Amino acid sequence: MEYLIKQYPLDTGALEIQYIEEYFGEFPRKKTAQEIITRLRDRESLILMAEAPLPDDPGLVVPVSYKIVHELREREAEPKLADLVARLRNAVRFEDRKVLYSWIGGTRRDWRGQGHFRALTEESEAWAHASGYHEVVVKTKNRFYDMRGTLDQLEFNVIKYEVNPIDNRESKVYLSKQLTSDVVRAHTSRRSVVYAD
Ligand SMILES: CC(C)(COP(=O)(O)OP(=O)(O)OC[C@H]1O[C@@H](n2cnc3c(N)ncnc32)[C@H](O)[C@@H]1OP(=O)(O)O)[C@@H](O)C(=O)NCCC(=O)NCCS
Repeated sequence: MEYLIKQYPLDTGALEIQYIEEYFGEFPRKKTAQEIITRLRDRESLILMAEAPLPDDPGLVVPVSYKIVHELREREAEPKLADLVARLRNAVRFEDRKVLYSWIGGTRRDWRGQGHFRALTEESEAWAHASGYHEVVVKTKNRFYDMRGTLDQLEFNVIKYEVNPIDNRESKVYLSKQLTSDVVRAHTSRRSVVYAD
């Protein structure tokens, strides 16, 4: 199978992500287009979406999976990112290295388990490696079992675990992957990428 991936510029990408997030009923706190634009405006980033046919109308191709990755700097002004960098202090080396943060992503329920997220992840890793990034970092929670299982299959390594003393399901898990040429060579998905306006 060849995965169909669209790469978006910031403004249209932010609107597309806001739209697709409406389909993720399990997560009450969805990102708005404005939040996405504010976060990504002054930093290197990649907005990817996978498209696939609707099962009962295969002529119609719809967005089914998405992923946003962005640069994470040693010195961040935005409080949320500054906090993230501080938490990663002893787990990730920033000095003289480009670090990528895998911010948000998901696959619509009816299309899960079909390789779309692997295809987006591999595309983002290929882009990141070509753009000089050394490492990609991602944050999740204990209770996001689908995501944890997926990150495991995608060979992310746990670099930090932050216990939530009230509810361990809410504990945070930080993972990362070194972006070597071996990693890119080991990719398995066949992908075609188009650039949206
Ligand atoms: C996690 C998620 C993005 C996976 O998307 P997907 O398109 O189904 O993933 P893929 O089909 O590309 O699977 C990639 C790999 O992970 C594995 N995988 C997928 N779901 C899995 C699960 N629930 N448990 C274990 N492994 C899983 C697949 O088998 C595959 O491995 P392989 O390529 O080595 O065979 C999707 O389940 C999702 O959107 N979940 C909700 C989002 C979420 O949990 N967000 C939490 C915020 S961090």
